[in-house]
Order: sequence, then structure tokens, then C-alpha cells
Amino acid sequence: MCLFIYTNILQLTVVIATVFAEMVENEVFKYYSNGEWKVSSSGKCVPVINPTTRKTQYKVQACNQEEVDNVIESARVAQKSWAKTPLWKRAELLHKVAAILKQHTKPIADCLVKEIAKPAKDAHTEVVRSGDLVSYCAEEGIRVLGKGNYLVSDSFPGNERTKYCLTSKIPLGVVLAIPPFNYPVNLAVSKIAPALIAGNSLVLKPPTQGAVAALHMMHCFHLAGFPKGLISCVTGKGSEIGDFLTMHPGINCISFTGGDTGIAISKKAGMVPLQMELGGKDACIILEDSDLDLAASNIVKGGFSYSGQRCTAVKVVLVIESIADTLVKKVNEKIEKLTVGPPEDNCDITPVVTECSANFIESLVMDAKQKGAKFCQEYRREGNLIWPLLLDCVRSDMRIAWEEPFGPVLPVIRIGSVEEAIRHCNASNFGLQGCIFTKDINKAILISDAMEMGTVQINSAPARGPDHFPFQGLKDSGIGSQGITNSINMMTKVKSTVINLPAPSYTMG
Ligand code: G3H
Repeated sequence: MCLFIYTNILQLTVVIATVFAEMVENEVFKYYSNGEWKVSSSGKCVPVINPTTRKTQYKVQACNQEEVDNVIESARVAQKSWAKTPLWKRAELLHKVAAILKQHTKPIADCLVKEIAKPAKDAHTEVVRSGDLVSYCAEEGIRVLGKGNYLVSDSFPGNERTKYCLTSKIPLGVVLAIPPFNYPVNLAVSKIAPALIAGNSLVLKPPTQGAVAALHMMHCFHLAGFPKGLISCVTGKGSEIGDFLTMHPGINCISFTGGDTGIAISKKAGMVPLQMELGGKDACIILEDSDLDLAASNIVKGGFSYSGQRCTAVKVVLVIESIADTLVKKVNEKIEKLTVGPPEDNCDITPVVTECSANFIESLVMDAKQKGAKFCQEYRREGNLIWPLLLDCVRSDMRIAWEEPFGPVLPVIRIGSVEEAIRHCNASNFGLQGCIFTKDINKAILISDAMEMGTVQINSAPARGPDHFPFQGLKDSGIGSQGITNSINMMTKVKSTVINLPAPSYTMG
């Protein structure tokens, strides 16, 4: 029995290694266009730097504008027949992808560990979560897209009751998906699956850090057998193909997750629907009556998981002065238990994605130091690895009170009243998520109502998931709303067909 299982595992490993081999040539990963893995005619490649070793881990093709033109054209052609493919058939293919993705969890998760230093267990979860998302999307698509509306005319002036309107949802055309480095697989499929189920075609431009995990994920779509050209993936430098992609007349919708680049894209993109998830300065308000152990656990989990590199990370703690000492002590006790080191060892705190990010985080820490913040731990950095740091007694004149470090550094601002906390939250140019800790649910709901945030969590840290929940940011945190159902709706347009009956020659009723 054991031998049988071992042989099967061995065979599966060999199969996986063989199928992935078609994606690489001369140690450079190919890009995916019109159903084939290709080498760019640019003859150039882009290195993917391992954040832990700071050495080149992989190389991907530096696609040029002509190759972008080609994928968009094949996406345009393939979309026409895909839109006529029965909904159940589209759903069936997505279910197949979900299963293949889960079978390939290990190699994809390994790439996440190497490319973006995601702790091994979180990398594994990202792939499994992505498979679940795709399956849910296939099911939801059948429910949402299988329905239409029927409207009967009403007595607006000049209208007889002779008009009947049938509405249905139609695809937009070619969707451009640009996911961020921190979830190159999950935030890619959260765009790809809704686009495809709705009858769109899709072009993916993954981030360079995370591109190889994204290409492996794309390979799962390739194995599932989607029509040629329906889905493609171009890699390369944003400076060479970024604007060309986002301003391309063949793109009919853009779904982007990332930072400030999203604001620039929204200014340059043409008249196409945009879905943007940008930054956040997610505030955590702790009231006097809260369960401080629960609050401390959530602050540490919310603030430091994946080293704070999540748009939904807790990015500022606003605590009522009278309980601040107790809360800070509890948080510090938990920070001491966090493990720091390489992602392969499943450490809680791993190197941040680039040296440039580490330098930016350090600049915020030094600014806070110069202006008198209280350091609960000693500031420590080796390469891209930054040890977790709680900064107490942060004031509004410090940059860290407003900017998002996207790293394992968390500011605590001591406040005199709930009103002061709300004022601080609402003065931010971000409005992604926030959270409140209190045992008084009535108060929590009133505070939630006053906070200018896309989502407010009561007694838990901010989070995007579960993936079918609506997810949106106000102000500079985004445009539109995500979550499986919202994304399907966003990637469609309502189409009406109006039936006009001849005026009756006799009086009805
Ligand atoms: O970084 C942005 C992500 O949307 C955060 O997702 O809350 O599941 O970590 P998460």
C-alpha cells in the first residue's frame, strides 16, 4: 500500500516537473500568448530577486509592445466565441482549473516563498484559497449571470403600456488584470475567474516579484484547456509596457491592485470601467471596555502577518489613554514571541519584498525616532529583514501616523476620546478598512457609521476575506467594489432589448 502511494507521488512529481518544463527556456520563464509559451523577440529578460538572499532567483521575459498588441488582438478574437459559450461550460472549465491549481499547490507555493518571501504556510494557504475562490466564482456566475429582468412600460408621458424591456448582463470584452506582489496568485484569480465566467477574455500583467508563481498559476488555466488566446500573460518592465497596456484601445476594463500606480492609471486610462484596490492606513480603535487580550492578539496578527505587507494590515493603533499602558504591554509580550527569519522556516517575520521597501520603512522609523516616538523594541535590520517594532506615543506630526510602511512597524497613538480617534481616521487620505474593539455593540455600530472606511470590523482585525465578501476602499484606497459577486457584476454591462408592440386598435380592459 505504502509503495503504491509512494509510486503515485513520484509519478505526480515527475508529471508536474515535465509539464512545467515547457514554460522555461535557457533558464528564463516564457510568457503565455495565444495558447502557447513563448520567448520574447526583445531578447531581454527581467530578473526576479529573492528578497531573502537578494540574489536573482528567476528570470522572466521582457515582453515588448508588439507582443502586447498580439495578446490583446488574440484576446479580442477569442472573446467573441467565448461570450457565446454556454455558461455551464465556462463554469465547468473553471472548476477544472480549481482542481488543477490545488494539485499544483506545492510548486506554486514554493515560488511564492522564493519570490516574495511569503512564509511557507501562508504561501500554501494562498494557493488553496485561490482554488476555492475559482470554484465559488463558477457557482456564483451561474446564479448571477443566468438571471435577466423583464420590465413592463409605465405611464411616463407619451408612453402607452406597449413597451417591454428585457435586460441581461453582457461581457465587457478584454479585461486587463494587474495583481500586486503580495498576492500574485490570489489577487490574480480574483480578477481572472470573474472575468472569464462573465464571458470576457483576459490579459494578465503580473508583478515582477511574483511573476513566476503567476505564470505557474496561468499554466493551470492552460492545462484546463481554455480556448487559445482567451487568456494570456505578459511579463516585463512596467516602464516599457505598463502605460502601453493600460492605455491600449483594445482593453475594455482594468482591474488593478497595488499602490499609488493605481492613481496614475486611473488618470491615464480611457473610458473603461476601473476596479482599483490601492493602499490603506487601517486604524484599530481600542475602547476602554474592550477585551484587551483579544485586541492585543488581533493587533499582532493584523499588524505583523506577512510582515505587515497587506493593504488590510493594522497600520495604526488608536487607544484610549487610560488603558494604553496595559494594551501596549500585552502587545509587546506577543511581539516577543514572533519568530524572525527566512520564509522557508515558516518564520512569522520574513524579509520585506525589496531593498527599496526596506529603505522606505527605515525612513519612517528614523523620522519617528527624531520626533520622539517611544521605541518598544530596538530597531534592527539585516538586509531586507526588519525585526518587528512597536512605536508608542506616536504623534500626528510624525510621518508614520499617516503613511503606510508596508512592513513590520506599527505605530500606537494614545487618544483622549472616541471622537479624537474618528477624527484621526477620517483625516487620512485612505479609507480602506478599520476596526473597533469594544463590548458595547451599539457604540461599535455608531462608530463604524462615523468612520469613512470601505469596511469596518467589530472585534477583529481588518481582512479582505472571506473572498466572496464585498471589499472596497473609499478615497485614495480604491474605485469600485470587489468580492466575487461584485467583480462579476463589475465585469459586465446591462444590455436591454425593448419589444415595442403596435398600438392596440381597441381599448383594453
Ligand atoms: O493586500 C491586500 C489584500 O487585498 C489583503 O488581503 O486581507 O486577505 O490579507 P488579506
